[in-house]
Amino acid sequence: MTTQLSFDVQLNQQARTVAEREQVLASPGFGQTFTDHMISIDWTDERGWHGARLEPYGPLLLDPATSVFHYAQELFEGLKAYRQPNGSIVAFRPYANAARFNTSAARMAMPELPEETFVESLELLVRTDKDWVPSTEGHSLYLRPFMIATQAGLGVNHPSRNYRYMVIASPAASYFSGGVQPVSVWLSTEYTRAAPGGTGFAKCGGNYAAAFLAQRQAVEEGCDQVVWLDAFEHRWVEEMGGMNLFFVFGDRLVTPALTGTLLPGITRDSILTLAGDLGLKAEEGKISIEEWQAGCESGELTEVFACGTAAVVTPVGTVKGADRSWTVGDGTPGPVTLKLREELVGIQFGARPDTHNWVHKI
Ligand code: PLP
Ligand code: COI
Repeated sequence: MTTQLSFDVQLNQQARTVAEREQVLASPGFGQTFTDHMISIDWTDERGWHGARLEPYGPLLLDPATSVFHYAQELFEGLKAYRQPNGSIVAFRPYANAARFNTSAARMAMPELPEETFVESLELLVRTDKDWVPSTEGHSLYLRPFMIATQAGLGVNHPSRNYRYMVIASPAASYFSGGVQPVSVWLSTEYTRAAPGGTGFAKCGGNYAAAFLAQRQAVEEGCDQVVWLDAFEHRWVEEMGGMNLFFVFGDRLVTPALTGTLLPGITRDSILTLAGDLGLKAEEGKISIEEWQAGCESGELTEVFACGTAAVVTPVGTVKGADRSWTVGDGTPGPVTLKLREELVGIQFGARPDTHNWVHKI
């Protein structure tokens, strides 16, 4: 299918020099520095999608009454472009992100974007800013497509009639500064991320805005990340602030089922498939904090890891809650976690065959 939209291209005359870019790429951090260009496409109810363009990265000029500032009608995606051994570039499962973008859009009463246009916009940005895709091992270019409600006005009787879709890109090293070191997690029994009927499954900014307080509490408690539990009993594990969770019982993996209150991670979905490839049993199910603690104490629950685009596959080493704390295994990365990480990263960086057709050449 070809898209009706064609992109106007306006190259950045003030693009950074090779030396400036190399300086950023030497130590990119996560989400701190952006490439020289960005994508924008506008929507109005009258005209649909129009005005597709690639232009120099820069600030937006918006009316203070713009809907997104007041009512947070916003959603985003996150995926990465990876440099291959032969120098070419691929994205990982971009159509899965395109589909999730539209699921989020439907929940937020925002217009859907044709999947082809979504992928084409990523391709154009990455091709234009290809020199920003790192070649350093383990580094990648993080792509952040997002959409905001741009109608000015404070009424709440109907969703915005205007929107802007954009893509920005940022070279990325490890999300956690410790690399593959285990992280410590805080069980949030005070706050709730999502409830049935809410927006938990959508990748909308409001979910993250409402999570910062618990994440700050996690850090105050000496932990790296917050673990969200169900809204009713604060007992059933859902996910982390920006990652899904897997529990390893020897050769059996369990990840919380997609109940509508957690994000359907694309890494999660990939791990479910890769686990099967490796001869492991992978299930979607329910796991309580009591089972988590008891499993670690009896030795039956051998490893726990978090997974997501930014975090890749990251072991969980210690768990802390208001009235309990424990260690997972011996607190160091376990073999199943490391094997799955190696498989996934191997496919993304072109060191392993892409048997599931996940890799999309750019
Ligand atoms: N859960 C949350 C809340 C997230 O923000 C993310 C990151 O996108 C994930 C899970 C993992 O999703 P994915 O693997 O698609 O990056
Ligand atoms: C991602 O992994 O893409 C995320 O969105 C996690 C976080 C940076 C919000």
